[in-house]
Amino acid sequence: MNTKLIFTNNVADTLEKYVAENNFSDIFVHVDVNTAKFVMPILESQSETIRKAHKITSPAGDDNKNIEQLTGLWKQLSDAQATRSALFINLGGGMVSDLGGLAAATFKRGLTVVNVPTTLLSAVDASVGGKTGINFNGFKNHVGLFYCPDVVIISTVFFQTLTNYDMLSGYAEMIKHAMLKGKQCFDKVMAYDVTLPPVNPDALIGLIKESVLIKKDVVDADPHESGLRKVLNYGHTIGHALESLAVNDRKSTLAHGFAVAQGLVVETVLSNMLKGFDSAELHKLATYVKNSYGPYDITCDDYPKLLEYMRQDKKNIDSGNIDFVLLSDFGKPEINVTVSEKDICVALDIYRDLMGI
Ligand code: GLY
Repeated sequence: MNTKLIFTNNVADTLEKYVAENNFSDIFVHVDVNTAKFVMPILESQSETIRKAHKITSPAGDDNKNIEQLTGLWKQLSDAQATRSALFINLGGGMVSDLGGLAAATFKRGLTVVNVPTTLLSAVDASVGGKTGINFNGFKNHVGLFYCPDVVIISTVFFQTLTNYDMLSGYAEMIKHAMLKGKQCFDKVMAYDVTLPPVNPDALIGLIKESVLIKKDVVDADPHESGLRKVLNYGHTIGHALESLAVNDRKSTLAHGFAVAQGLVVETVLSNMLKGFDSAELHKLATYVKNSYGPYDITCDDYPKLLEYMRQDKKNIDSGNIDFVLLSDFGKPEINVTVSEKDICVALDIYRDLMGI
């Protein structure tokens, strides 16, 4: 991954220095309506580069990651006569970097991209690793490219405006990274309370750095997800199925990280059943998720729908099968493990017992 990761709580100076060291023809800053309101004014007051840059604002929300918004970004770049030597800064969460990343990757065959994530979720996941994309034809991230940002500036200063809900949503990905790394990392993440206000920028940045570097190592080894990178989907087969159940069948929403937290518990139950993952550690994870995130209320009547969503998961190798990443221990993931529907239902039963539902 040809990306420089910079961990700093001085974003403005870092941007000024980066721009001074390069020779960009023009600078574009892509935000959504939320970061336009809450983050842009802070950075504008600190950075002449941001003050002078062209601003491009997208509507907020994952359903705006679509072809209409993408063409809207191309149009604005074209109207402003952006050249290939322009810089495109994504200032926002995953929606901003997924959509903006794809626009920048494709406009004139690719501008230089810098990501400045403003949520914990995008700091530890979407902003790093080069996945860009839009939703299409009813499927999430159906069209996209791997296109690495030149630099990602990771900071905790913008988290002051986030809710505990947002923080927990991002933290689920950090729990996942820790489980993929090792027990020491997992224990450290379990011991930290990400909801304690106010956000302590300095305490958190160290944990975030460890977490992002775990992802970076995986992406470096397999940038195009031919194999190993699939480990980053731990917790996501169930997590995505719960998100689909929430959106399609319950007409409600379930934050990605909240779904992943539940998914981590179910998939660790499967890891325990099928790969011998330690029971005491499974209980530690389940207790943390129950206390911090709360359970997601499902009954056995939901199982057929959940299985249907899992069968549609794009990570399955053979259609009809349901594949998982499972762990035999912390730091020992196995990809492409086909699990029977019967075992998945048993794991969901055990999840409901562990969560007290
Ligand atoms: N979010 C998982 C990945 O970037 O591969």
